[in-house]
Amino acid sequence: MSEIVYLNGEFMPLEDARIPVLDRGFIFGDGVYEVVPAYSRRPFRMAEHLRRLQHSLDGIRLANPMSDAQWIALMTDLIARNASAGDDQSVYLQVTRGVAKRDHAFPKDVKQTVFMMSGPLTTPSQAQIDSGVAAITASDFRWLKCDVKSVSLLGNCLLRQMAADAGATETILFRDGQLTEASASNVFVVKDGVLLAPPKNNLVLPGITYDVVLEIARAREFEVEVRAVSEAETRGADEIWVTSSTKEVLAVTTLDGKPVGDGAPGLLFRRMHALYQDFKRDVMRAK
Ligand code: PDD
Repeated sequence: MSEIVYLNGEFMPLEDARIPVLDRGFIFGDGVYEVVPAYSRRPFRMAEHLRRLQHSLDGIRLANPMSDAQWIALMTDLIARNASAGDDQSVYLQVTRGVAKRDHAFPKDVKQTVFMMSGPLTTPSQAQIDSGVAAITASDFRWLKCDVKSVSLLGNCLLRQMAADAGATETILFRDGQLTEASASNVFVVKDGVLLAPPKNNLVLPGITYDVVLEIARAREFEVEVRAVSEAETRGADEIWVTSSTKEVLAVTTLDGKPVGDGAPGLLFRRMHALYQDFKRDVMRAK
């Protein structure tokens, strides 16, 4: 069965979805997006995702085309229409500033373009969980509004491709000597039994998985410090983790080709990974 997508008020097969070439999302990357994991067909932490969407829309001065209730209804409908993708899905939604004659300044009275699609939620393989993944590092050359989940992702794409070229999974980023995040995930560091997390600010995307991992860590009495983490601390870490809704929590076991800690997923990672799986079973999938 072909994938069903939502575009500007209608559901249709993916192959039939078309947008005009003057859409500002295409011309300028002028839009924002969300990726929402759905477990047992229910979008996870929808209120938090919608709050982040509103923050992104506010950040680019674009009105929200729908109420929260409308977003929830549409997303639930889309997930049901894509039942062949399974009960766990990854929903992508995008809002752009719409179609207008090319001019950098915002057009007046133009309707936003709204697009949504959903596919299977692909999580890390057992081998990645057991052995961890490779990451490289790079200087964070993105703009200063990384808290906006913008579809202008060229910086992230260039950075992620560096990892792909090196046969690695992620590129971990430093700005002015401090850890920010990775090209498509947040980053945690463990040193001497303490879990360190860079604070949320304009230099990182406020990850929903980041919140979940911090909540679990605090509830289970991990020692946690949310504070700036230096490049030196990252390079000298006992453990490095990356998190996102699709990666969940994953151990980085080599950084720029050198082992992180003893080169295997660490003790705290193994605890957190097990707790995250319990959380999925008991909370995300709970009926
Ligand atoms: N990206 N930082 C960046 C730059 C990201 O692109 C993402 C997620 C995250 C983690 O956010 P969350 O935990 O809410 O997934 C952090 C998504 C998955 C994407 O662009 O496909």
